[in-house]
Amino acid sequence: MSPERETESLAGVRFVRLPNANAVGEQAALMVANQLANKPNSTLVFPTGKTPLPLYQALRHMPELDWHSSRLFQLDEYVKPKMAGPLPYETFAEFMDRELWDYIAGHKFYIQHYFQQPADYEQLVLQGGGPDLVILGIGGNGHVAFNEPGSSPDSPTRVIELAEQTMVSNFGGAIKPGYPTQAMTLGLKAILSAREILLLATGESKKAVVKAAFSPENPPSSDCPASWLKRHPNVTIMTDFDV
Ligand code: PGA
Repeated sequence: MSPERETESLAGVRFVRLPNANAVGEQAALMVANQLANKPNSTLVFPTGKTPLPLYQALRHMPELDWHSSRLFQLDEYVKPKMAGPLPYETFAEFMDRELWDYIAGHKFYIQHYFQQPADYEQLVLQGGGPDLVILGIGGNGHVAFNEPGSSPDSPTRVIELAEQTMVSNFGGAIKPGYPTQAMTLGLKAILSAREILLLATGESKKAVVKAAFSPENPPSSDCPASWLKRHPNVTIMTDFDV
């Protein structure tokens, strides 16, 4: 008799399927609003990318939210290549300011001040018992933040080499002059210490990786770092497709 195939418990994972990317953004904004209402001095961690744009748009249109005592962190940031003159890409700090942080109060922490001290940044995120809510996207290669394939669940906050697929997807080339090859990322260990995690995935192109990461048939693996979220007790995955 062959041993029964073990399936992974997804007890802590809730799937929310919405009609489109804007609905995902609006629903995610309500989660942020609830978090701030329940705990005004929440520690929140925000991602960059195309996926969270509708969330930030929705939050910009919620002037009733009180951000004053919140602590706001970036999930990741490119390490600037050594070159003179203006950068050919937008930093994640510029993105966060433009999309949300310039519109709201709160204590904002920028990764670029901690490239030499990733552990100090992690300590700040963890102050007060871990982040209250970490919001994530997911890369086509299963990365969350810049925890690229190979990242274990106890990965610290660190500077890492970007995966080739990430550089192609983000800059249109594996190595392009003036573009970063490294990033600093909040580690999986700090992400998994959050009280709550919200992963946003929209568009058909994300369907395969979400299915692979969260299939109960696949044990979590560092080959697909997002799959470690299955072990967390309180994860919401919002999509505009069926998983
Ligand atoms: P995207 O990036 O939102 O632009 O798809 C997500 C990610 O790579 O984490």
